[in-house]
Amino acid sequence: MKKIIIHIPELVTCAGTGPKHGKDMADAGIIKDGAVVVVDGKFAFVGTTDELKRVYEELDEEEVIDASGCAVIPGLVDSHTHFIFGGYRADEFSWRLKGDSYMSIMERGGGIASTMNATRGASEQELLETGKERLDRMLSYGITTVEGKSGYGMDYETELRMLRVMKKLNQEHPVDIVSTFLGPHAIPPEYAGRDREFIDFNLEEVMPKVKEEGLAEFADIFTEKGVFGIEDSRYYLQGAKKLGFRLKVHADEIVDLGGAGMAVEEGCQSADHLLMASDESIAKLAKGSTVATLLPATAFSLGAPYAKGREMIDSGCAVAIASDYNPGSCHTCSIPLIIAISCIYMHMTIEEVLNALTINGAAAVNRQDTVGSIEVGKKADLVILDKPSIHFLPYCTAMNIVKSVMKDGKFVF
Ligand code: NIG
Ligand code: FE
Repeated sequence: MKKIIIHIPELVTCAGTGPKHGKDMADAGIIKDGAVVVVDGKFAFVGTTDELKRVYEELDEEEVIDASGCAVIPGLVDSHTHFIFGGYRADEFSWRLKGDSYMSIMERGGGIASTMNATRGASEQELLETGKERLDRMLSYGITTVEGKSGYGMDYETELRMLRVMKKLNQEHPVDIVSTFLGPHAIPPEYAGRDREFIDFNLEEVMPKVKEEGLAEFADIFTEKGVFGIEDSRYYLQGAKKLGFRLKVHADEIVDLGGAGMAVEEGCQSADHLLMASDESIAKLAKGSTVATLLPATAFSLGAPYAKGREMIDSGCAVAIASDYNPGSCHTCSIPLIIAISCIYMHMTIEEVLNALTINGAAAVNRQDTVGSIEVGKKADLVILDKPSIHFLPYCTAMNIVKSVMKDGKFVF
């Protein structure tokens, strides 16, 4: 049950109380010539190889992995995805390439509604199979914890089916899943023009069942012009909080409605997207405890301007980065791509990006005490790279340099 890894040229621990704000994000807790000991799925020692040799006299008898030439980072936490869905929307991607916009496709009844129809028509078995394939791919990029949202049912049965599928996958697949209820992802056709009634349907009929079955810890809403406004969003978030959910918001993605500021005021764990967030909202995020979750691959896929990652960190925000993997606005969970964009276009250092993908991602899903860093007592989730330094991560632009992945102390990739 014991595993020992020594001579890690850069052991990137990302240690520290999460979420890390502003300047604290510059420190990735790097130990040179590092070593870790894993016992029963948890880290039992984290330090230098020299220190380890002093405390572990029986080192010769154990199975020891020599990681010379290979940097080690914590298992990554992808804190915002929509990875359970039926159907694909490759056609919409091509329309957008010809000049169509995400919102105009949605207004014509495509977009989220199109995935809603496909997901309502998908069996539990189909959702399980595609979900498993997607989790396998995430693992290949070093993702060991993922948040997944419902929101492609927007009816009682399908919302529960999506969440039950995630619960099952969490039991069967090595990747840990944190589930979020996103009933108000759009207004389904049967509730057209009746936004408040649809929110009440979620709060009164669906969410109590979600709670009863323990299917989701978080509640989320798509706060956006033409979807749910600030007033409806506040009403939903306050109702969700009363039901015992922790809160998240899709905020200021396409239009600045002040969603990020609202997220801070309503005590949300995270405010996500933030492409258009105003300086005023950024200042609120910096002062509050809400994690600013940036989804640069979505901006990339939509050809939209990137969130102000550099400015947010300089203002003192706790920034997390996630994929937003979904069938529409961002059909990728490519961590190498996300790292490249974050460094090159959001002007973040690789140390900041790693903190954003680990300890701050963990904080965005309330898992900062168990995952997100390599520290004694935490789950032994780590990624071995096939290069000696984290500086190869942005440099090997959009190429995957993951050599192997350990989850709960076991090599799973
Ligand atoms: O985070 N913006 C709203 N929700 C998703 C997209 C969902 C979809 O297009 O299917 C997002 O980008
Ligand atoms: Fe999203």
